[in-house]
Amino acid sequence: MDTKSTSEMDHKLLNASWPGKETDKPRGWVAATKERPLRIGIPNRATFVEYVTEDHGTHEIQGYCIDVFNASLRFVPYDVPHRFIPFGDGKSNPSYDELVRMVSEDVFDAAVGDITIITNRTRIADFTQPYAANGLVIVIPNRNSNSGAWVFLKPFTAEMWGVTAAFFLVIGLVIWILEHRINDDFRGPPRRQFITMILFSLSTLFKTNQVDTISTLGRMVMMVWLFVLMVITSSYTASLTSILTIQQLSSPITGMDSLIASNLPIGYQVGSFVGSYLTDSLNIAKSRLVVLESPEDYAEKLSLGPTNGGVAAVVDELPYVKLFLSDRKDFGIVGDMITKNGWGFVFKRGSPLAMDLSTAILRLSESEDLKKIGDKWFCKDGCEAGRHVSDPNQLHLDSFWGLFLLCGSVTLTALIIFLVKTVRQFVRYKKKQRDLMSQYSSATSSTRCAQAVYSFFDFIDEKEEAIKKMFKQYEDPPSIAV
Ligand code: SER
Repeated sequence: MDTKSTSEMDHKLLNASWPGKETDKPRGWVAATKERPLRIGIPNRATFVEYVTEDHGTHEIQGYCIDVFNASLRFVPYDVPHRFIPFGDGKSNPSYDELVRMVSEDVFDAAVGDITIITNRTRIADFTQPYAANGLVIVIPNRNSNSGAWVFLKPFTAEMWGVTAAFFLVIGLVIWILEHRINDDFRGPPRRQFITMILFSLSTLFKTNQVDTISTLGRMVMMVWLFVLMVITSSYTASLTSILTIQQLSSPITGMDSLIASNLPIGYQVGSFVGSYLTDSLNIAKSRLVVLESPEDYAEKLSLGPTNGGVAAVVDELPYVKLFLSDRKDFGIVGDMITKNGWGFVFKRGSPLAMDLSTAILRLSESEDLKKIGDKWFCKDGCEAGRHVSDPNQLHLDSFWGLFLLCGSVTLTALIIFLVKTVRQFVRYKKKQRDLMSQYSSATSSTRCAQAVYSFFDFIDEKEEAIKKMFKQYEDPPSIAV
């Protein structure tokens, strides 16, 4: 056949029709067609729905895992027509083992979601490379409800506080009795004596006695009292320190070993592989395991504790635990990560898609996109706030705001009393000044003095003694020479 006639024939050729009646040239291997899209099972999650779920209103399948899957598909060199099929009733998280089994039994062609890659599952289906690394952690209650605003009162019982306060008064009174006949500091008008007595006994707490004891008996009482105070204050400091910092010792669980040995009930997420992992791999008795439905369930059962029908700890994967802890301060992670797993997408055994998606996931994670998807779902209010997992060795304002409030209110009250007193003094002074001005038209020494103070701020700035002297001058003005 000559070249000319071949090219003429070419012109008469119709458009190529590709398998699946596609007219567009395929980009490579076709995993599914528009007529028979890939049936992708997705776990219809009821909790931690940020990962994947079916929207109850729009019935749209959405979540972090769906976005990761769609973004990965962009790196696959051919079209993958697909449709998502929710698995589960949406009221409780479905069994993920069951979902993987359904892929292996051809009910679904693939499964997309927060599906952990574990040996039992890789035996029956193919997984892609993990797109999210995680592992199992243990969550326990911090039992740090001690970090309330009034934590500084906790080292002592109400009885102890009462007796200590009473002793302060008694010691003040006794020292006053022993001293006031011989010590000038304990003499004077009754009001002053009372204040000296109270301040004296309180100042012993801070070892800043403004007044010295003179009598031998007084000194003897003081010596014993200071010793008692030393013991009381050091015990208070030690107790407060332990309350504020050694929170985790209050739970017997310090890691996986103590959890296994403890024989206490352990909670895990419904539908998760964790239940079978704990029984099969760690040989924990099934009777110790408690299925938990939701983060609220975690919080409730952990707070109840093992003795009141709750659990001693919850074992779950880090991504869920991070979400759980993001708005709860009463719980924390203890020990190291028990396992190191990852989440991947599931395909039928031998599906080339698993390999291609793996490459796509690698390319996605090398780009910024994977992080951006994570930020979109989990950092809505700024990532730093959400990801903050508090360091148990740090003390927070929560533990001290009661003290600051106390100090602030005393300071404010003192300031208000001072201002009220000074304003009243200023008003009195102004009134006197006006009276004087109207009485004496010519400048006298007192009016000259009065003019020196123009405003309230000048008035405050003056020494109180000078102001009092001024008052005295007004009340007893010098006679005007005629
Ligand atoms: N990621 C878990 C699993 O795959 C579900 O919570 O079992």
